[in-house]
Amino acid sequence: MFILGGTASNGIDIHVSRVLGADLGKVETTKFPDGEIKVKVPEISDNHVVIVQSTYYPQEKNLFELLLTAHALRDMNADITAVIPYLAYARQNRSFYQGEAISINAVMDLLKAAGVTSLVTVNPHRSGPLRYFGSRIAITNAESTLAKWVGKKLSNPMVLAPDKGSLDMAKGVAEMMKCDYSYLEKHRDTYGTVSIRMTHGGNFKGKEVVIFDDIISTGSTIEQAARYAYSEGAASVSAAGIHLVMADDAVGKLKNAGVDRIFGTNTIPCEKADVVDISEDIAESIRHVAEIR
Ligand code: R5P
Repeated sequence: MFILGGTASNGIDIHVSRVLGADLGKVETTKFPDGEIKVKVPEISDNHVVIVQSTYYPQEKNLFELLLTAHALRDMNADITAVIPYLAYARQNRSFYQGEAISINAVMDLLKAAGVTSLVTVNPHRSGPLRYFGSRIAITNAESTLAKWVGKKLSNPMVLAPDKGSLDMAKGVAEMMKCDYSYLEKHRDTYGTVSIRMTHGGNFKGKEVVIFDDIISTGSTIEQAARYAYSEGAASVSAAGIHLVMADDAVGKLKNAGVDRIFGTNTIPCEKADVVDISEDIAESIRHVAEIR
């Protein structure tokens, strides 16, 4: 196995190569004056190549670099696994309105056309739609690693899911952190405005509430949930997300709502957060997907 790190691997390529004891190389990317990119792969020491490239902002550039890299390897007859810690476009997993493209299917078709035969990603928004890729897929669950990380930093925690979709995650995380949990009911209107309707039990008074979600994007969900937790008597509120997209002024928004700490994983770089490395979890998924090749 040969690990090939793209420019958006955020260090995961290095950690994964150490954990797996595999050689590591780096993709060389240059830019033409008109903005187009050119990709060059180094000499590879094994025919099974694992490309590590996250597709955080700028998504199109990072995704296209990955496609060019895979295509170059395909021409070298390599067997290609793509490790995409943050998989962009995964939230548009159906046509919500007639005529809308199912973006994640388009991304998976492009990966396959470029020669990718196995895929590893971390906590996608929904895993069901990824079956479209086929059977050679492994989904890393980083919840346990993140829960352990957060658990070490808080002494009187309570886990809060900002919506029903995050309830299973909150339950599991609370079990690992040996604390209570509760969840909220969230409504998002067609303009993206988030409102919290009600909470389902739990005593927030004096607790270090930590809101767990799969993705923190604009921060609106966490902002509303944090305000709610304070109104119920929380002593402090922090936020934990597997993927810290942090679009627009999400960090400022969270700060204004009194969120004092942000925890996350290294699927996306985020300087303002306390981030845990999940390379060991990813390495386990790479081993798994290698077995089903
Ligand atoms: C949605 O269901 C997800 O689990 C997240 O709650 C959502 O993507 C967060 O988005 P934002 O930070 O923009 O509210």
